[in-house]
This record gives sequence, structure tokens and C-alpha cells, in this order.
Amino acid sequence: MDYYEDPYPTYSTTFLTMAAQNQKAVVLLKRFGDLAVTSLAVPKPSKGEVLIKVHSTALNPVDWKVQKFGAFITEESAFPAVLGMDLAGEVVELGEGVTQWKIGDRVFCQTSYDKGEGSFQQYAIAGAEMLATIPSNISYDQASTLPVAITAPYVALYCAKPNGLGFEPPVTAGGRGKYAGTPIVILGGPSSVGQFAIQLAKLSGFSPIITTSSPKHKEWLLSLGATDIIDRSLPLDSTKEAIGKITDKPILTVIDTISSEETQNVGLDLLAPSGQLGLVLYAIEGLVAKAEAQGKFVVSVMGMKKLPHLAELLRGFYGNISKLLEHDDIKPNKVEVLPDGLNSVADGLKRLEENKVSGVKLVAHPQETE
Ligand SMILES: NC(=O)c1ccc[n+]([C@@H]2O[C@H](COP(=O)([O-])OP(=O)(O)OC[C@H]3O[C@@H](n4cnc5c(N)ncnc54)[C@H](OP(=O)(O)O)[C@@H]3O)[C@@H](O)[C@H]2O)c1
Repeated sequence: MDYYEDPYPTYSTTFLTMAAQNQKAVVLLKRFGDLAVTSLAVPKPSKGEVLIKVHSTALNPVDWKVQKFGAFITEESAFPAVLGMDLAGEVVELGEGVTQWKIGDRVFCQTSYDKGEGSFQQYAIAGAEMLATIPSNISYDQASTLPVAITAPYVALYCAKPNGLGFEPPVTAGGRGKYAGTPIVILGGPSSVGQFAIQLAKLSGFSPIITTSSPKHKEWLLSLGATDIIDRSLPLDSTKEAIGKITDKPILTVIDTISSEETQNVGLDLLAPSGQLGLVLYAIEGLVAKAEAQGKFVVSVMGMKKLPHLAELLRGFYGNISKLLEHDDIKPNKVEVLPDGLNSVADGLKRLEENKVSGVKLVAHPQETE
């Protein structure tokens, strides 16, 4: 069903060059510093890049962690740094040599914190080969929920060992449905990452797909492909007991989409010997040694498209992601749009830090920044 109506007119390159040399952006002023909405020059696409007018950008926990822990952006010359890693918008200018995209194409991508690229700005540059088309049944808001949150579980499940758990991706001829009858446990089903982990597990055929969640998300998670929901507030023993009632097969795969100290320990404990645990944050101290002593494998992934060892795997995925969305094989996260464009990003990040976001992705509209 084509329910999306594009409210945005397509601007010509000439219009952009004349009218939008400056733009609004959310920047981190210095390492561990404050966030500010400021005016910046519109970046210029170099060879192999495009300039995108950003209509929707999603907020991720990494954005507040960069500010609070000083991670990822360390060089003084990188500041002021535009944050934001999830972008959906329209192509408004082509860099030299770009032939696969045209002005007006609706695209989404994972950006980086490199100069010119952050998604918390009105115009961002991106490598032409890193983009995916937004199909007509998906809005800019919906598309912006995907890149960071789906890339992490994709890497955890499908990157070859030792950088992932080594399952065959569902975008290859033999990968779809390959793991039928194999149980998987996904800790944190309602998180953005968890929702995509469930859907990827479904595409791979895993069954049952057991996830932990507060009861209020049950129907939504079942609609995404989870087969069984276990109340996240249950203690470990009761969780094990509940899993035992769902399947008598050993649990050999757990994806922990929360990766707190508590969930990492639970994840390891739920695994049978020789089982494997995928984390989306660094392993807590002692976990890997404990896992090795029990004959289990633990991997922490960073779902960043720019990492060289992920390039081939993620090219394969991003080449297929539009079709998966178009055919409803992947559903985006539910969206809460923040008011006042980029002016609300700092408050949104605070809510994420304080765990006050429940089952939705916070999305900002940079073009609505006054
Ligand atoms: N490595 C990577 O590449 C990568 C990529 C993306 C994210 N991450 C990390 O992954 C984590 C999740 O990120 P996110 O964006 O998916 O978070 P999020 O969507 O903001 O997570 C919030 C949701 O998680 C649920 N939740 C929290 N703790 C839970 C628990 N113990 N059991 C079950 N559900 C729980 C909450 O449930 P309620 O609604 O019941 O409160 C809420 O719905 C963050 O630490 C983030 O930094 C890593």
C-alpha cells in the first residue's frame, strides 16, 4: 500500500546553491562540552558524495554517550562536531562522478561524525555508495529509524566470526529461513535494536524467537515476529523456567540488545554450553573470561558502516534493504516526532539517557528549526 504522500518539493541544485549556503545544526562544542544549535555552512559534496537535504533524523543513545563519555570524537580539530547518525532526506546535489543517484531521490543512510556528515543538520553529505532508496510505502520519519538500530543486530548475527556470530545473512540465496527450528533469545525486544533483531531472526527462520519485555509491548513484538514474550522483570531462574516451557532445545544463541551489566550476565547464564552471545556494547569486565571457561563465545559489535571489515557484509544488506521494507519484511520503529526541529534534540537525548523513551524512536525534522 502506498500511504506515503511526499510533502516536500524537490529543489533544483541552482536553488540550493543560491538559497541555502548557511544552515542550522546541532553541534557538540568541545569534548565533554555542551550541545548547541548553531549556524554552519552547508557542506559541499566531494567526488563520490552527494548532498542531502535532511528531512528526518533519528536520535540514538550513542549521541548522548559521545557527549558524556567523550567517545568517538577526540581530536580538537573535529569540533564543533555535528552529531546524529541516522538520516533520511532527498538528494539535492551530486558530487563529481556520482551517476547512480539523481536530484530529488529519497534516500536514507547511516552517517558518521566526520566533518559535514552528522545528521543533526539541515544539509549533510554522504558517500554515494552508502545510500539506500526509501520505498514509496515508507516515510522519511520511518526510514530514519533504521540505519543505526538495524545495523547492530545485523552485524551481530551475520558478520563472520570472530566479529559476529557467523550466521548466513537472509539476503543471500540460501540464507532466508535457513535456521528454521533453531531457538534464539533476544533480550530487550522493545528497544530499537531489539525490534530489528526480532525481525532479522524471523527472516533467518529462527524459531522460537523468545524475547524479554515489559508486558505492554507484547502485541507489537508478536507482530514483528517474536513467538514468545517473557516479562523482563522476572528473575533469572523464572526466565529459565519460562524458556524451558517454550522449548526443550538448548539455547545456543542470545542477542542482548540492552547489554547492561545485568542483561549481559543473564544472557551468558541462559546459554547452554557452546552457545554464543551477541552484545551491542562492550562486554563487562570478566564476562569474556567467564564465557570461555564455560565453553561459550561472546562478541561485542559496533554496527558502523564505515568499519572496513563490515564493508562487504553491509553493502550486501543495504543493497537489499529497500526491497525488505517495500515487501513489509522489515517494519520501521514507531516514531515520536519532536517539536521545533533541531531545537529539541538535546532534550530528546536527555530523555534517552534517563531511560524515559519507551518503544518508540525519537525523530527530529531539521527543516522545522526556527
Ligand atoms: N553497537 C552498536 O552498533 C549499537 C547500535 C545501536 C544501539 N546500541 C546500544 O544498544 C542499546 C539499545 O539502544 P536502542 O536505541 O535500541 O535503545 P532504546 O530503543 O532507547 O531502548 C529503550 C527500550 O528498551 C527497553 N528496555 C530497556 N531495558 C530493558 C530490559 N532490561 N529488558 C527489556 N527491555 C528493556 C525499554 O523498555 P520499556 O518500554 O519497558 O521501558 C524501552 O522500550 C544502547 O545501549 C545503545 O547504545 C549499540
